[in-house]
Amino acid sequence: MQNGAENCVYKEIFVIGAGAMAEAFIRGMTERKVLNPEKIHVVNRSRAERTELLSALYGVTIETSFEPAAETDLVVVAVKPADVATALAAVQPFLHGQPVLSVAAGVTLNYLSEQISGCSPVVRTMPNIPVAVLAGSTAVSFSDGLSEEQRQGIVFLLGQLGEVVEIPEDMMGAATALSGSGPGFVSYFLEAMENAAVSLGFSPEMARKLLLQTVVGTAKTLGEWGLSPAELRQRVTSPGGTTHAGVSVMNEKDLGSTVLEALRAAAARSAEMGQQYAAMKK
Ligand SMILES: NC(=O)c1ccc[n+]([C@@H]2O[C@H](COP(=O)([O-])OP(=O)(O)OC[C@H]3O[C@@H](n4cnc5c(N)ncnc54)[C@H](OP(=O)(O)O)[C@@H]3O)[C@@H](O)[C@H]2O)c1
Repeated sequence: MQNGAENCVYKEIFVIGAGAMAEAFIRGMTERKVLNPEKIHVVNRSRAERTELLSALYGVTIETSFEPAAETDLVVVAVKPADVATALAAVQPFLHGQPVLSVAAGVTLNYLSEQISGCSPVVRTMPNIPVAVLAGSTAVSFSDGLSEEQRQGIVFLLGQLGEVVEIPEDMMGAATALSGSGPGFVSYFLEAMENAAVSLGFSPEMARKLLLQTVVGTAKTLGEWGLSPAELRQRVTSPGGTTHAGVSVMNEKDLGSTVLEALRAAAARSAEMGQQYAAMKK
């Protein structure tokens, strides 16, 4: 196969859930050829059509019980936060110390570990929606008990879905605000740009075409030239020019403070939701 698959410590994985996140994960692993499709075992709660679709699209192995998890070296939990406890209870008898990775928003390492009585190390991730097109950003935190090789293997697997950043767990709320909600924030800014463009005489379609490429092109330029956003902004802003005129208005309206407040609000809401969720489960 393989794009470095020979270097990956994980050879056989068990995925719980067959929804959007499970599919993104499976797509990343199979399209990038880092795992043999038939070595990816997928179990779903009730919708057989989802596992059948994943099998048809990606060649994964459909399971109807949790028992095959015993033969795997990584378990991925891709269910809604409220379903995590049930999913972990079902898989626990088949855990033998292989890491359990969760994508459930707000579900803490402690909570994951408690549900399986500490019998495997756990991994908490916060992916964002662009993982579905393998251009996502994923924040990851590890419990104790994973070897360096196991941790690197997980970063490698998640890296097939886009960027991966390891963070201390207490930064998860901030990561949720930045990259989890980020696509919503960027889209909101684009929505405002699109509306403004229409006011300037563009059709929405024409405006969107120019806007999308502007975003993709800006991100690509930043990456390829190795510039910070501030550096690129300065490069394209001549004193008295058009960008200068626009940025001056954004400064007058204090865009920086608005963005800071928005991220703080999202992080605070994430913390609040995590607490509500933990309390609900006690
Ligand atoms: N979508 C996103 O953008 C996003 C971003 C970041 C994080 N996440 C996290 O990703 C997780 C999954 O989200 P999603 O969008 O993929 O949800 P989803 O499309 O609703 O998929 C959830 C899947 O879990 C299955 N399931 C539930 N309980 C189960 C159990 N006990 N055993 C086996 N399968 C079970 C469901 O099966 P049935 O359909 O048969 O009931 C469904 O296929 C969530 O915790 C969410 O917080 C999602």
